[in-house]
Order: sequence, then C-alpha cells, then structure tokens
Amino acid sequence: MTAIDLPQSLLPTLPGPHYTDPAVFAREQERIFEAGWFCAVRSADLSSPGSFETVQIGRESVLIARGRDGALRAFLNVCRHRGARLCTDEKGSVKRAFQCMYHAWTYGLDGKLVAAPNLTGMPDVDRVEYGLTRLHLREWLGYAWVCLAEDPPSFADTVLADVSARLGGPGEIEAYGIENLALGRRIEYDVRANWKQIIENFMECYHCATIHPELTEVLPEFADGYAAQYYVGHGAEFGSDVTGFTVDGGDGLPRLPGVGEHQDRRYYAITIRPQVFVNLVPDHVIVHRMFPLAPDRTLVRCDWLYLPEVVASGADLDRSVELFHRVNQQDFEACERCQQAMGSRAYAKGGVLVPSEHHIGEFHDWVRSKAGES
Ligand code: FES
Ligand code: FE
Repeated sequence: MTAIDLPQSLLPTLPGPHYTDPAVFAREQERIFEAGWFCAVRSADLSSPGSFETVQIGRESVLIARGRDGALRAFLNVCRHRGARLCTDEKGSVKRAFQCMYHAWTYGLDGKLVAAPNLTGMPDVDRVEYGLTRLHLREWLGYAWVCLAEDPPSFADTVLADVSARLGGPGEIEAYGIENLALGRRIEYDVRANWKQIIENFMECYHCATIHPELTEVLPEFADGYAAQYYVGHGAEFGSDVTGFTVDGGDGLPRLPGVGEHQDRRYYAITIRPQVFVNLVPDHVIVHRMFPLAPDRTLVRCDWLYLPEVVASGADLDRSVELFHRVNQQDFEACERCQQAMGSRAYAKGGVLVPSEHHIGEFHDWVRSKAGES
C-alpha cells in the first residue's frame, strides 16, 4: 500500500485498504489499542463495591470492577482455569466475587482466586498466581483509563500531552472540573465505519458548512471550514446572537464555575489519541469514547456531562443534548458513506486532504508509525 504521488501542497489520505483490511485492523488493535491508555469506563458508573463493566479493548475483553476498598481494578476477563470467559454481562453488580460458570472457580473483587471446588486437593494452585490477570488502570477526568501493556507508556507523555498540545496547557481543561460533573445523557452509536474515519472526520472542519447546519449557526466560523483543532488554544466563538450551545442557539444551562472569561462563549474540541474526543463549552462537557469492533464497525459512547445540581434538578437538557446529537448523527452518516467506498478501485491509493488539514496527515503518520509501517 503506497500513497499516491501528489503535488507538494496536496496531502494524501491513507489508501482505502487501511479502512477495510482485517490484517491492518488486527495490527492496530495490537499496537495501538492494546499498547496505550484506553478510556474504558466512567468511574461514577461503577459507584458501589461489586459493580462491574466489561469492555472490548483491542482483541481483549476487559473486566473492570470496584472493590470493597473502593478502588477500581481492571482484569482480563478470562478464567485462569480453562480459559472460559468469566463475565458475559456488559455491566452489573456482584456481591463479593465473580464465579466462573464452568467449574465454579471464584475470584474476589481484587482478582484473587478465593475458592474452587476441591482446591485443597490442588495444593500447587497458588491463589494469587492463578488470580485474574491484572491490568494497569488510572483515573482522570472521571474516567478509568486502562492499559493492557505490561509496561505502559507515560500517561503524561501521551494522554496529557494530547490535551496540552490542543489547549496550550493542562490547566485549561482543569477549569471545567470534568471529574465532578454528573451524567446528564448518554447515547450510543453503532457506527458502520472504521475508527479512523471517525477521528479524521472529527478533526476536519471542511465538511461543517455542508452537513452541520445547526452547528454552523452556533459557531459561524465553522462555516468557513477552518479546522479549529489545528490552532493551539483556539476556541471557536459563539455567534453574536447565540446565547448557549443548544440546538437553536438559545439559552443553555448554568455555567461551570471554573470556566474562565477567555473560555466563555467558546467551543473547544480535543482529540485524545487513539479513541477519545472531549468537547468543552461553558455549561457542559461532551466526551466520546470509541470502541473499534471490526474494520468497518465502531461503537461510540457519548456522554453529556453537567453540574450535578443541574442534573439533580431535573432541568430540561433536550435542547442542549440535541445539538451535538445531531452533529454526531450527521458525522457518523458521512463516515458510513465513506466506509462503503473504501474498497473501491477508485480509492485504492487514497484521496487527498485540503492543505489546511495537515493535522489529519499527522494523525495518519502517527497511526502508521504506531502500527509499525514506514
Ligand atoms: Fe473457569 Fe473452569 S474454566 S472454572
Ligand atoms: Fe462534523
């Protein structure tokens, strides 16, 4: 797969097979999603001891559970006896342990093997050695980030660096107090497109004028197609007659207390590679987590987060949620439309990026270097 030769001012996209080839997808699963920090679950979703969630990270099913000590832990979701899938539910709660349905090996919330039929007859089975395989986990922004690598990359040099590169410094995102916000709405999108389509589309603004009528009303500069993500520290300014980040540009909800004057009436979009988008507006934060399931299928979980008192008050969030829900639908429909053509001969050598979008070219370079391609 080689890129097409283009005049210097034009940048090639990745060739079509990068979006369809199972071998490319498998390499990305191994070298990108299983190698770095992956934003897996929202911490507050697992609020009580014994609550758990299973998520797909790369080729592995991962079980994340809250222990009796209040800590979140992540494990490979595989019984250490004969390798049965331990937990088949997407989420739920257990009293004090996970029991395998096959031969009833039982694991504590800390992953330790706590019971097994006739285990006394197997003195060599060490309860820690044959406990669940533990993974690295750390919490940030109210989410649990998991790394499957034995020796994880520095969180600061990867996740935090992506945020700083976009916002100009880590303090900028802290102002929104994301870890203290409450979930106002969650919508899941089962997108029939490769995960890279979704990232490239999010980084792009060239399409805004064509497919996002509501968004460009609220953020008029997006109608010009300039990719705000390219400019460090630049937030797209609300239109002069817009009073809130809502579907009709009308009033939003109470402003987050830490948001500074320079952040007011502005929208910031951040891509945290490989699978998170954070959208900051004065009264709420929208977090997208992507779960790549197949070369042509990605599950997107999108959370709308507000001040806890706003959610508790039962305030009407519909006009607030509706704006980005429409943006999501418009974007994912476009991604699916591209995905359908990725196998065409016409795209075998890829397409072209407009010059202002060389940051998408940088994303392609990052993917290729991570996946071990020249
Ligand atoms: Fe799980 Fe045997 S495979 S107890
Ligand atoms: Fe878009």
